[in-house]
Amino acid sequence: MKKRKLISLLTVAALSVSLVGCGGSGSSGSGVKNSDKPLVWFNRQPSNSSTGELDMAALKYNKDTYYVGFDANQGAELQGQMVLDYIKANAATIDRNGDGVIGYVLAIGDIGHNDSIARTRGVRSALGTGVDANGAVDSTPAGTNVDGKATVVQDAKLDIDGKTYTIRELASQEMKNSAGATWDAATAGNAIGTWSSSFGDQIDVVVSNNDGMGMSMFNAWAKDNKVAAFGYDANSDAVAAIAEGYGGTISQHADVQAYLTLRVLRNALDGVDVNTGIGVADEAGNVLEEGVDYRYSEEERSYYALNIAITAENYQDFMDSTKPYSKVANQLDSSKCPTKKIWLDIYNASDNFLSSTYQPLLENYDDLLNLKVDYIGGDGQTESNITNRLGNPDEYDAFAINMVKTDNAASYTSILEQ
Ligand code: BGC
Repeated sequence: MKKRKLISLLTVAALSVSLVGCGGSGSSGSGVKNSDKPLVWFNRQPSNSSTGELDMAALKYNKDTYYVGFDANQGAELQGQMVLDYIKANAATIDRNGDGVIGYVLAIGDIGHNDSIARTRGVRSALGTGVDANGAVDSTPAGTNVDGKATVVQDAKLDIDGKTYTIRELASQEMKNSAGATWDAATAGNAIGTWSSSFGDQIDVVVSNNDGMGMSMFNAWAKDNKVAAFGYDANSDAVAAIAEGYGGTISQHADVQAYLTLRVLRNALDGVDVNTGIGVADEAGNVLEEGVDYRYSEEERSYYALNIAITAENYQDFMDSTKPYSKVANQLDSSKCPTKKIWLDIYNASDNFLSSTYQPLLENYDDLLNLKVDYIGGDGQTESNITNRLGNPDEYDAFAINMVKTDNAASYTSILEQ
């Protein structure tokens, strides 16, 4: 072989090796069919909103499709345990009217959302107030249950320091506003107003499926009445409120989730192993720890971040919920990982968690990962409000989707097939 030819062959070989790191394939205008482009579902897992069954057709839409969320059951258990620990440690002082009944109220986010269901079950199981419905703890809202006669929950007995207390779910409801938006903080603020004016002296603990609603109830009533409120998400405002009597929250490790949401797309676009910068360090040194930061289910094509309980003991370490996770905060080399364009929607632009924690994190990581992301903010009510803004999928290299309703995956994928 002539020397020149050998050199050029070697150059080609070297180039293709360096491409393995980043940027091997996929680019807008590249002729890749939209239905073959990388797709990540996040925050709301494609599933049947009545039965919870996963929508595997959506989760396996193409070879580069994944879901990124968090471990709902592990987090729900932590939340229940956190509330139980608080009651056990403070029973004598929190039973405000001294009737021997520790009463709590519960704000439910969305009765058709697996994460919300898991949290309701987690609290009821830990406190012993859950009843069985078809082999699982009933997650139906109880409405008002001041007399303890509801059938979807039961009174529990708890022995603390030689005294037996009754634990009662005094009231619970789905916080949905009249326009149909769920997890609605304002609705929760109104609910605590109604509940407290009719049976306020019986409320000893406030529990919520998330911090948006939890903080709304805390600010509207619990704080002034020195009643602890517990939420979920570890939004910065909720973590800061722990110093003022907010009981605690759960971090769903949004810093890991936001990274994974964009990272699985980056890896697919680069044609590298999906585990790059996740379970295996990338060239920049980004790597997570499986079993500590996240777990992956191949069968469900899903990455689940692991949760951490945040209480008065450790909250100082979690004050800024928008800070990238230090293990994966290294900038990728733009000569090897060229800019790609992503379409991403936030189903409800006014959702506390998504707007104050998740999106700011995504915006930090998109720079680090050299992704140009168009953020579409939905109204939280109708899928069409979002899908109408996926008018030109050809312009994008990949898609990140946060659905309004978990059964509606086809509203999005059908657009990619046109
Ligand atoms: C969060 C909620 C949020 C919901 C939106 C959940 O994971 O905990 O705060 O409202 O996602 O889908």
